[in-house]
Amino acid sequence: MKKWLVFLVCIFVLFGCTNVKQEDMGTENATEATDAAEENGEVKDPTQSETEEVTSNDTKASETETQVNDSKTEEAVALVIDPESLRGLASAKNMYIGAAIDMKYFKEKAYQDTLKNQFNMLVLENLMKWASMNPNREQFIFAGADIAVKFAKENQMAMRGHTLIWHQQLPLWLTEGTWSKEELLSIVDYYVENMVTHFKGSIDSWDVLNEIFEEDGSFRQSMWYKTTGEEYITHALVKAREMDPDAKLFINDYNVEFINAKSDGLYNLVKKLVEQGVPLDGVGFQSHFIHDQIDYDSLEKNIQRFTALGLEVQFTEIDLRIKAPVTDERLVEQGEAYKKLMEIALRNGVTAFVTWGISDLHTWVPGFFIGYASPLLYDNKYNPKAGVEGIKVALRE
Ligand code: G3I
Repeated sequence: MKKWLVFLVCIFVLFGCTNVKQEDMGTENATEATDAAEENGEVKDPTQSETEEVTSNDTKASETETQVNDSKTEEAVALVIDPESLRGLASAKNMYIGAAIDMKYFKEKAYQDTLKNQFNMLVLENLMKWASMNPNREQFIFAGADIAVKFAKENQMAMRGHTLIWHQQLPLWLTEGTWSKEELLSIVDYYVENMVTHFKGSIDSWDVLNEIFEEDGSFRQSMWYKTTGEEYITHALVKAREMDPDAKLFINDYNVEFINAKSDGLYNLVKKLVEQGVPLDGVGFQSHFIHDQIDYDSLEKNIQRFTALGLEVQFTEIDLRIKAPVTDERLVEQGEAYKKLMEIALRNGVTAFVTWGISDLHTWVPGFFIGYASPLLYDNKYNPKAGVEGIKVALRE
């Protein structure tokens, strides 16, 4: 009997130890992964943060319409989209409504909630730029952007990729190097190949080229243009198509929304690329406007000349800054401006309507345009501004 008891206790202990060991191994692996990630300059998953710093009337209301995963289990909860939300109404019109995001704000519950309840597309405001993705020549850091990809998938949102080739936010190894034309073209190829391959299947549309024109419509005198002429443009587009044939490829710029010298430069380039059969799907009009200085007629005609080439047009970085003081009257005007922009978008088949941020709490505008403020759709407390209702009215028409 004693022998049996000892035997049973041994079995129990052994079994228990094995389980503990497995759990420990899991923790060890997770810890190693986290350590490795941190060493690589990668980030923790901010989508898991539960801190609530700012609350919004709108978000609270929408929580009753959208199932929220407030249980502590890992089980996925079906996303229920309010048909009267911005994203519900836009999806019904087969349109993307998006926002640029910075995951450091995910700790604000209202930020995440507004994003997933109101938008069906997201774009990383800074994280996918070259200096962040490829800070050393042989090192790509994908982990941060991968979290955004996961968040987008979980919340059934499409993603824009911003941006592959730009003249800003480049790593020092690149800007401080001396490169021949062949070397720079192979750097373009290598970077585009790695980026587009990594995010294959996750990015709906890439800003393959960003801000490649001067205001007079000539090519920007960037390191790319000075060393390779126009060849970097074709290289980037061809390589991006090769790596992900399903991703849409865009050339994106500001001050090209109206008919003017700069948009003529863009038009002439894309017309030539289309005629030459270079892969290109559309042009991005960034749309950083002053709220009462939008030439709607010119915008509409301009869209039409690009779509006549068989290209898509997307509004990629909308914000409508208001000159201080931000009065109630100006906010109403801003709401009307957002409505008109959405009406033009719908009338002309614009496929995405993306604002450069979510709330006035986090926007590049006041830091860059001194004396201007309040450019976005949600106020500092994530309450919807007039623009939200304006866009909804346009989408319901
Ligand atoms: O992350 C660093 C931080 O570590 C450092 O302490 C801090 C000090 O200045 O800088 C932080 O980086 C800043 C970065 O935003 C992240 O916040 C950069 O200085 C700042 O220059 C950068 O600004 C971004 C800008 O692009 C830079 O090119 C803006 O947030 C971003 O909204 C803006 O976005 C551009 C689009 O990509 C292209 N179209 C125009 C649009 C607005 O300028």
